[in-house]
Order: sequence, then structure tokens, then C-alpha cells
Amino acid sequence: MGSEREMSGKYRVVVVGMGKRGMHHARAFQANGRFEVVGVCDVDASRMDAAAQQFGAAKDSDALRLAKAVKPDVFCFCTLPNLRSEMIRIGIESGARLIAFEKPVALTSREGMQVRKMLAGSKVKAVVSHQHRYGEHYRKVKEIIASGALGRVHTVYGIASGWMMHMLSHLIDYMRWFNGEAPAQWAMAQAAGDGKLSDLHPSPDYLGGFIQFANDVRGVVECGAGAPDVPEVDYWWRKARIGAQGTDGFAEVMTGNGWRAVTKTGASSGGGCMNYDLDMPPYIQDMATWLDDDRNVHPCNFDSAYAGFEIMMGLCRSAADGGQVALPLTEPADEIEILKAYLAGRKVIPSTAANAKEYGLAEKLVGVKS
Ligand SMILES: NC(=O)c1ccc[n+]([C@@H]2O[C@H](COP(=O)([O-])OP(=O)(O)OC[C@H]3O[C@@H](n4cnc5c(N)ncnc54)[C@H](O)[C@@H]3O)[C@@H](O)[C@H]2O)c1
Repeated sequence: MGSEREMSGKYRVVVVGMGKRGMHHARAFQANGRFEVVGVCDVDASRMDAAAQQFGAAKDSDALRLAKAVKPDVFCFCTLPNLRSEMIRIGIESGARLIAFEKPVALTSREGMQVRKMLAGSKVKAVVSHQHRYGEHYRKVKEIIASGALGRVHTVYGIASGWMMHMLSHLIDYMRWFNGEAPAQWAMAQAAGDGKLSDLHPSPDYLGGFIQFANDVRGVVECGAGAPDVPEVDYWWRKARIGAQGTDGFAEVMTGNGWRAVTKTGASSGGGCMNYDLDMPPYIQDMATWLDDDRNVHPCNFDSAYAGFEIMMGLCRSAADGGQVALPLTEPADEIEILKAYLAGRKVIPSTAANAKEYGLAEKLVGVKS
């Protein structure tokens, strides 16, 4: 099939899971000009049929059968987080040169380690979708930090109202990016609330923690019902704030409402809002750039995402077992199971009425401001 690509000059793509994110990916691949969506897969026949028609692509509800028949250059899967290692195996078996998949890397370190082992044992490139990096407001904050305008950076932080398996992977990825991707040495956390442990994105209702990075920068994260409000942002899912503080100032991005900085030269701010239509095209283009030349490693490459994933799993282990968890992790564990055992009966106290509503908690809670 390599010869077919040479004829069309396009990288052939299979997309598995034609839900919200699968469709975002498929549309962005097709619109790019360097890719061609040649196969789509979903266990939901109506979603699959509609996508196959839209892209003029082959379809099959069995990802392995489709991938073996179509032999794509890019195997992309956007299934829910319970499906990871199986899809990675299929991607590798299909002979694809690049696997693109959704955050989180996995639900447990046991599965994350399996994924890493499979990828390391193959030559396939892999990319994980932390595409907020491409937002103009995110890039502005990164630029200010990288310029040295904050002096010596000592702290990076990230907070979000949404729950962990949705949001923490993003927060940690952008904190690591703002901190020059320095390795983490340990993580320590507390958690409360078991309501979202049975969600399709299983999570403690609230997790707050600390990370020590090897360059002596401290990371601080809060994610979930107990996190503070981000009053600058109206849309609940975009209530996220990620930033850095240094000896000469700070800079931060709000996922749903621009950025701001204070440095020695004064205060500045600007716009920008998380937007799939703006973030997906450059995220997809960087896959073509990496496929074209091994030296142009994708900013959202698997190794970078895995370093963030380890931090998230370290925080979970600490929340359940106590103490500081040394990183990188050496032994596998089932973090969601140990959190289930620890969190049973430990109720969360939401910070805001909006959080109370989103977490299905009584709306009139003593001490919670409306
Ligand atoms: N990067 C981001 O900004 C972002 C935003 C939202 C969601 N996500 C992530 O994207 C992933 C998917 O989320 P979504 O909102 O698109 O979910 P979704 O439920 O809309 O889509 C998932 C699709 O996968 C299909 N599916 C399930 N099992 C399958 C199988 N074995 N073979 C083929 N198809 C299968 C489902 O039928 C469904 O259509 C999740 O991991 C989520 O965390 C990322």
C-alpha cells in the first residue's frame, strides 16, 4: 500500500471510534491535504456509516480486520479511555508508521506500561492528543516563560473543575511544557469523593497534589469538585488555569478565556479560547511533518505524554497510600482499584455551586457560595 501513497502523495489514515473526537480527527486529517481518510471503524453502526459516507472511506466495525485490509500509514483511535493497549497492538500489527490516540495514555500504570513496552518494541511513532498546546493563548504563555521574562521559574501550577481522567492529563502536559519538560522526581497528593470512580473517565471527585521537578521547580495541581473556581471563564468544562511563577513575575493561561502576565516591564494580557477547529489543524500538520522527517519530533509525542501520565499515576498512588511517590514509576499498579478501596465513603465537599451540580451533589451545601 506504500505505493498507493506514493501515487496519491498522501498518508493513508484509519480512524477508530467515530464519536466526538474521532470526527474531529477525521475532519482535520481530510482537510489537511497531506492525509486521506481511507477507513473508519465504530461499534456503533450509524456513526460508522455516516463517517464512511462523509469521507468516502472503507468501513468495518472490527478495527483489526479494517486495519489489516487497508494497511494505513496512520492508525488513529479515539475510543474511550478503557480501550488503549488493545488498540495500540492493532495499530502496530497494521504496520502503520504512526499511531495517534487520545489522552489519557491509559487508566492505570499497569496498562500504561504495557502500551509503552509495545511501542518501544516497534518502530512506530506515537502521538497523544494534548492539542490545547496549539491555542494562541497557550502559546503566548509558553513564549513569555521561554523568553526568561519571569526570571528564575520556581513554580508551575494547574487547576481545573472537571474531573481527573478528563482534565489532569491536560493540566500536567501543559505544566511540563511550561517547565521545559524537566523530569519529575516525586509526586504527593490527597483525594476525596468516590462519585466519579464509576464514570467512563473514572476519577476521584477531587485530587490536589504536589510535584517535584528535577530542575527544582515545584508543580501544584488541583482537579475536580474541590478545586477553586476560575471566575474569568463561564463555560464549566473550560474552567482551567495553568501557569508559571518566577522571581520576576508570572504568566498564566485560562483555557476558556485568554492569558495574562505580570513581569518587570509591567502587566499584559490577551485573548484566546480553547477551540478544536483552531487547535486540530496544526496538531495534525505536525504529524505529517514528523512522518516526513524523523528529526521533526511531534511536540505531543508519546514519550512526553507518558512522562505526564506517570506523574498522574504517582499522584493517584500517593492519594491512596500516602507519602511521596518516587518517579519514574518502576512497578505496575491498578491505581483506580486502590483509589476505590481508599475513597469508599469519603465524601467530597465541592468548592462552588456549579461544582456541586456537575458532581451530582446536593446544591445547597453549607458554606458553598452560589
Ligand atoms: N483532547 C481533547 O481535548 C479531548 C476532548 C474530549 C475527549 N477526549 C478524549 O477522547 C476520547 C474519546 O472521547 P469522545 O468524547 O470522542 O467519546 P465518544 O463516546 O464520543 O466516542 C467514542 C467512540 O468510540 C466508539 N467505540 C467504542 N468501542 C469501540 C471499539 N471497540 N471499536 C470501535 N469503536 C469503538 C464508540 O461507539 C464511540 O462512537 C477519550 O479518551 C476522551 O478522554 C479528548
